[in-house]
Amino acid sequence: MDYKKVIAHLRKRIISQDEAIDRIEEALMIAEAGLNEPDKPLCVLLFLGPTGVGKTETVKALAEAIHGEPGAYCRIDMSGLSERHYAASFSGSPPGYIGSKENNTILDKNKIEGRFGKPGILLLDEIEKAHPMVHQTLLHIFDNALLRLASGTEEIRFTNTIIIMTSNVGSEALKAIAEHQEAMRNASEGSTIDWEFSRKQIAMEALERTFKPEFINRIDGIVVFKWLTRNDLMKILNIQLEDLNRKLKRYHSFHAELTQGAKEFLIEKGFDLKYGARPLKRAIRQYLHQPLARLIIEEIIPRNSKVVVDNAGEQLKFEVVSPKTDSLDSEPTVLELKR
Ligand SMILES: Nc1ncnc2c1ncn2[C@@H]1O[C@H](COP(=O)(O)OP(=O)(O)O)[C@@H](O)[C@H]1O
Ligand SMILES: [Mg+2]
Repeated sequence: MDYKKVIAHLRKRIISQDEAIDRIEEALMIAEAGLNEPDKPLCVLLFLGPTGVGKTETVKALAEAIHGEPGAYCRIDMSGLSERHYAASFSGSPPGYIGSKENNTILDKNKIEGRFGKPGILLLDEIEKAHPMVHQTLLHIFDNALLRLASGTEEIRFTNTIIIMTSNVGSEALKAIAEHQEAMRNASEGSTIDWEFSRKQIAMEALERTFKPEFINRIDGIVVFKWLTRNDLMKILNIQLEDLNRKLKRYHSFHAELTQGAKEFLIEKGFDLKYGARPLKRAIRQYLHQPLARLIIEEIIPRNSKVVVDNAGEQLKFEVVSPKTDSLDSEPTVLELKR
């Protein structure tokens, strides 16, 4: 694995969350240089912040860069482990219990252990919702990088693993700060407030209310994800359009080109500080993917043409420019969508 390529991929895919990428880069560098502790995970990171701002996306992009596949990580939904006895769901049931011979852990050994020179990835989502006993089991994993399954016949090693936890703790207070910052930005007042410092402080206070000190102490890096601005959404939109065009070219031999007006239409429909890029993705689906899918299915678009997408007030409009007629005197075909 070339860690520089991995990081370059992350920086291309993930907008405005440089600190998270910096922490991952540090861990990969240490691993590459062989300076990681032999009996500890490669790193344990905690991603804080609101929904829809790229926490899971960072993990997917990392999996894609390392293993060539965005799904190559083990995700555990910690909100499902809210009771004491769920601590056993990591190690399986002890000998004598039903299922004890089957190593019935919820952990995916292959994805956690990775391969030689290619770290495995474990994502623990909504960590604060798990029972404290589950946290205790995790602490053991952080400290020993080893989990012996209850059946006694197998174990999972975490020495080649990047562990990433996510949490919403402090989100409400952090949101108040983001809104305040946005308001001041709009008022274009010069401010001397150190936003970064305030965000960190609020996050730490919330963490200390939720987790035991020994748990917090075992985390190598805590990253507070940023709220996304309109400018960030525009960059994310451009990434999404590149992905779309890759698919259109490969499967349907044409490509789509959005005017600035069309892009602004989608940002307008998709901007909501509270939900990050999620509403944008919904807007892209509704106003762009759906009409395009209809055109494709109705076989209206000739091969090697270009579809110009523009703002038409309450929706987007689609014009096909055929390859042969793509000269100055030709009129593009304006497509009326049947609804
Ligand atoms: N910072 C970002 N950079 C690039 N894409 C993003 C970013 N934030 C959100 N997205 C887009 O929005 C979607 C939802 O974000 P996700 O990472 O799942 O949110 P969460 O922070 O709640 O885990 C992603 O699939 C991705 O397409
Ligand atoms: Mg997520």
